[in-house]
Amino acid sequence: MTPEHVDVAVVGSVNIDLVASVARLPMPGETVPAVAYDQFLGGKGSNQAIAAARLGRSVAFVGLIGDDREGASVRTMLRAEHVDVAYLGTEPGVPTGRAIVLVDAAAENSIVVVSGANGLLSPRHIAAAADLLARASVVVSQLEIRMETVVAAAQAAAGTFVLNPAPAQPLGADLLALVDVLVVNEIEYEVVTGHPLPEDLAQVARELAALALPGSVVVTIGSRGALVWEGAGVTHVPAPVVSVVDTTGAGDTFIGALADALSRDEALLPAARWAVHAAAVSVGALGATTGMPGPAEVLASVGRSADAVPAVLPGGRDRAEEAGAHHG
Ligand code: RIB
Repeated sequence: MTPEHVDVAVVGSVNIDLVASVARLPMPGETVPAVAYDQFLGGKGSNQAIAAARLGRSVAFVGLIGDDREGASVRTMLRAEHVDVAYLGTEPGVPTGRAIVLVDAAAENSIVVVSGANGLLSPRHIAAAADLLARASVVVSQLEIRMETVVAAAQAAAGTFVLNPAPAQPLGADLLALVDVLVVNEIEYEVVTGHPLPEDLAQVARELAALALPGSVVVTIGSRGALVWEGAGVTHVPAPVVSVVDTTGAGDTFIGALADALSRDEALLPAARWAVHAAAVSVGALGATTGMPGPAEVLASVGRSADAVPAVLPGGRDRAEEAGAHHG
């Protein structure tokens, strides 16, 4: 990466994921035994940065770790992934973020985030990274850091600003006005629009148009792929049928791959298709970043796919559903 140009800058969280595999997720008040336990690098921001870096982009990460052993290990692991950590700060006296992740035999998960140092990433850190954010082709952020920090990042971004409002929170008009591409899953769609995601794609288009956003919206719909709205109709991008071990980080893989493609000046629709395939590859391994693919694996997945051109569906069933797709 040259100092002059960065493909993707990610402003966000980094965690150590404490992952327990369980036969089934516990009910409230219930204790269940783990069948396996491991620790992985995680956090939505860090995951998205790694996804873009694995696909060959120059990537810089703006975040905050604690001055604990976990923080030192995070820095080492991000460097090993070729992510520039010059803007990864260390906050004395606070723990590095952690996430407690449960994954069941059906690959369903539940996650509790302990934000630690991530919660202290502030507009002051964004001001210190202003030079980076002004020269990145794509700037990506999520909501595991303070909203005011995300707004500052959006203001500092000179290139395409991609927002993944996860975990779901209502978004202010000031922030939405700065977003070029909003990437939501079905839960986030409901929080942002106030409506559950409709089956009818024409209705999705109407609900998104009502938000009067300046940018575009991508809705990730798990094993069914993604929906892309660029101000008119909604285009469905189907996902390939894959076997699933763990979907933790699949959404992050999607966003990292989308940022990768957008930074290569791909249009949004082919970028979303690339991202759908990257996410589908990623779910084959345990851990948020373990299964994140390189470009050859994504290309192979695209090549195996029957849908060379994403189809605009008027709201009916899609091929992935008809084929009985697994998670993607
Ligand atoms: O999106 C998955 C991520 O959410 C995990 O890696 C965990 O750290 C939480 O931030």
